[in-house]
Amino acid sequence: MSAMEIQRPPSTSSRQFAPPETVMVRPLLLKPQWMNGLSERLLLSHYVNNYGGAVRRVNAIRVRLAALDWARTPVFEINGLKREELIAAGSMILHEVYFDSLGGHGGNPPSGREEPPAELAHALERDFGSIMAWRAEFTGMAKALAGGSGWVILAWSERLGRLVNQWAADHAHCLAGATPILALDMYEHAYHLDFGAKAAAYVDQVMANLNWERIGARYLLAIGEGAGDDELFLPFGAPAHEEARISPEELKAALQGDGDRRPVLLDLCLPRDLPRRTDMLAGATMHAPAALPRWVEELPRGRPIAVYCICGFQVSGTAVTELRKRGYDARALVGGITAWHAIGGTTVPLDKSTYEEG
Ligand SMILES: [Fe+2]
Repeated sequence: MSAMEIQRPPSTSSRQFAPPETVMVRPLLLKPQWMNGLSERLLLSHYVNNYGGAVRRVNAIRVRLAALDWARTPVFEINGLKREELIAAGSMILHEVYFDSLGGHGGNPPSGREEPPAELAHALERDFGSIMAWRAEFTGMAKALAGGSGWVILAWSERLGRLVNQWAADHAHCLAGATPILALDMYEHAYHLDFGAKAAAYVDQVMANLNWERIGARYLLAIGEGAGDDELFLPFGAPAHEEARISPEELKAALQGDGDRRPVLLDLCLPRDLPRRTDMLAGATMHAPAALPRWVEELPRGRPIAVYCICGFQVSGTAVTELRKRGYDARALVGGITAWHAIGGTTVPLDKSTYEEG
């Protein structure tokens, strides 16, 4: 795989729906509202602005590169664009490894007590002596980056025949040919909102939020033994069937169409989640999921329906399953309005006038 090909997660679920030149955003797999000591405000800001920003830069740079006359473009312009492409793509991929490595299991918050699965535990013992020894090195390296920035990466190196803890000063700093299994973001934007300058406290908190199941799946994929578990790399509760999901990029394109093929937008929100909301997609109608029998009959037949919630977990997933059972052409927005924010999708202030209270 060349450096500029974009890494696929160990999953077939995130099939590319957008045009092939567009790199699609990956949804958050963690539930930002109940992580161990990492606030929703911090996680969403990081995901939308830093991760989403990297995805948007990769796509913008690709558009520029596609239009370039390679024989006539000044070398400083070529160098600049290719350097920025490498940095943006590296940032995007490392952020995906970072966010995918965090979160609870199923619909549950992280317990902070999970351990690596058997194959990865064995490999860590083989290559570092013990899991404790690996952890001491990994967290020691991260804390040593406090006050600076960069990444600490657990990577599988085929050439070295082992797992390594790799130091990275920036997004473009990688051990050649190695595959990242776990990445710890040590840029200030990853912790400053919650921890101020206390980077060491942030490192300990990240370790208490690891999703070892997904890290283990990445390891198996890196050594060529991964079967790929679709649901593990989809937001928990998102519809299992691809035709019941729509990517933010695909929705954006569909909304630019007109007439009957333009999707009807449904914004679903649990009453307890209303305080977490400030905006919505233009033209969407907001409803309480529990009031479905009341609002479902107003939906037009024969038009596609796009349903979204905050992050694309059970709220939109359950509703889409129910709507499809009733014969509606409904699809759940992968990653919810959060992923929509990450691609730079526009929104309007929240309008709760159609919401069923009580
Ligand atoms: Fe970051």
